[in-house]
Parts: sequence; structure tokens; C-alpha cells
Amino acid sequence: MTQLKTLYRQIILDHYKKPRNLGKPTDSSYTIIHQNNPSCGDDITISIKVKHGIIEDIKQEGSGCSICCASASIMSEMVKGKTTEAAKDLSLEFSKMLLNQTINTEKLDEAIAFEGVKDFPARIKCATLGWKALESAIKEED
Ligand code: FES
Repeated sequence: MTQLKTLYRQIILDHYKKPRNLGKPTDSSYTIIHQNNPSCGDDITISIKVKHGIIEDIKQEGSGCSICCASASIMSEMVKGKTTEAAKDLSLEFSKMLLNQTINTEKLDEAIAFEGVKDFPARIKCATLGWKALESAIKEED
């Protein structure tokens, strides 16, 4: 295994073991979206609190494989404090990476750890589940 692959594996494992922004919304101002993967039964709930176009807070929780849960954790860290437009842009960039299209690697930050998932089409849904839930939550906000 290359050093880079080992690093990516460590990032994924770290987020799987210590998920960031884990939990439920703390008040009624959050938009909550539940998304599941029918092929495996895993599900994820994303709650966002948006003020003046900025994601002030995000909570995520659910059950799933390590790729699914770690990806939601990294996503939550990346979009917290960003505008909804910037978050949508990041989500698009993440999808492009999994479709093997040209990407801005700097923008993707730790989410680059999922680059290898593009070689495993069955796992792409795992990696994108949290991001898709985020997109739906932002759409509800608009
Ligand atoms: Fe279900 Fe990964 S196996 S989301």
C-alpha cells in the first residue's frame, strides 16, 4: 500500500471512530433530512442551521459502513461556517472526484481521502450519502 493510501485510510478510520458534529439538532431552527441507501439499509440524518446564507451549525448521525459515516463526518467539518453556495460547490466537486472528472484537490481538503472509492462503483453511494442529504437540506432552505 502506498504512503498516500495509508494516510487516506487513517483519515477515514479516524472520522469513523471519532465522528465530528455527531448528534441531533438542539432547537427547532434546523432543517433535517433523512437519507438512506436502499441497497444496504444504511441511513444518515443531516441537520443544518442556516442564517443569512451561512451554515452556522450542522449535526449528523446515522448508521452505515465506515465509508458512509466517515464521509458524513468529514463533510460536516468542511461545510460548517461556509455559505450554502460554497457547500453546494464542494458537494459537486466531491461527486466529480468519484466520477473521475477533473477536480480541484485543494478545495476537497480531507474529502480527498475518498478518491479511491471511484474504483468501486458499489461504494460510491456510501461516500455520497451524507453529501446528498446536505444538498437536499440546502434545497429545503432555499
Ligand atoms: Fe451502506 Fe455503505 S454499505 S452506505
